[in-house]
Amino acid sequence: MTGRFAGRCAVVTGAASGFGEGIARRLAAEGAQVVVADLNAEDAQRVAEDLVGSVAVVCDVASETDIDLLHGAAAAVGDVDILVNNAGVTHLPAPLDEVGGDDFDRIYGVNMKAIYLAARRFVPDMTARGTGVIVNIASTAGVSPRPGLTWYNASKGWVISATRSMAAELAPAGIRVNAVSPVAGETPLLPSFMGGDTDAHREKFIATIPMGRFSTPRDVAAAVAFLASDEADMITGESLLVDGGRCI
Ligand SMILES: NC(=O)c1ccc[n+]([C@@H]2O[C@H](COP(=O)([O-])OP(=O)(O)OC[C@H]3O[C@@H](n4cnc5c(N)ncnc54)[C@H](O)[C@@H]3O)[C@@H](O)[C@H]2O)c1
Repeated sequence: MTGRFAGRCAVVTGAASGFGEGIARRLAAEGAQVVVADLNAEDAQRVAEDLVGSVAVVCDVASETDIDLLHGAAAAVGDVDILVNNAGVTHLPAPLDEVGGDDFDRIYGVNMKAIYLAARRFVPDMTARGTGVIVNIASTAGVSPRPGLTWYNASKGWVISATRSMAAELAPAGIRVNAVSPVAGETPLLPSFMGGDTDAHREKFIATIPMGRFSTPRDVAAAVAFLASDEADMITGESLLVDGGRCI
């Protein structure tokens, strides 16, 4: 297999659907062996079966035990060169004082704590090898928040901040850390952000995106592939907007 990621191993969380599936397929198309990590066993298997040399690992990224399992399963594939922390969840649009504690905890676990847990397992290996790339999927929500999604927005602001701090700390170890911040995208998560999926919901959101369309898994995967590649080897701590101009 030739390509920018030939001979490399990538772990992509939340890779059974949406952006993560697009990222997994793109990295594999460019030569990577991909560890397709997701809570959803059936769809993780569906994606992994399509990709040469890839495996599905069922795991909850918010669980330390499951991250340990993921780390072990990935080691059986190869040295992990690329870690994409993509799995994410949201609460439904609501006034900030009406979002329940369970929703908050779920967002905290999947959008934030999972990045910490993965770093604790994968960074020491990358440090020992003196090389590695981490890409965290943030969101325009962390840059230009919409009302009604406050706790989700805040979690993505945390991702951008954590990315910058990780990059500063890990650069001397040869590890680059970047984020990709998509605007609302065509994935199964989209109706949860919009509070429904009607023409009116879509028109309202698209009206705020100068390029006049939602982002797609292809758009996000292209940005991740660039940041994960050697072409970006002087880029770290960046949060790359894939937003059709939404945050201008
Ligand atoms: N779709 C959008 O509009 C949009 C915009 C900006 C950022 N994002 C971010 O992009 C990322 C991917 O979202 P998507 O839109 O592709 O969503 P999606 O719902 O299509 O896919 C998310 C995947 O993550 C998995 N997942 C959820 N919780 C998990 C857990 N605890 N452990 C392991 N896997 C888990 C799900 O099973 C699913 O396969 C998320 O971080 C999201 O916040 C999405």
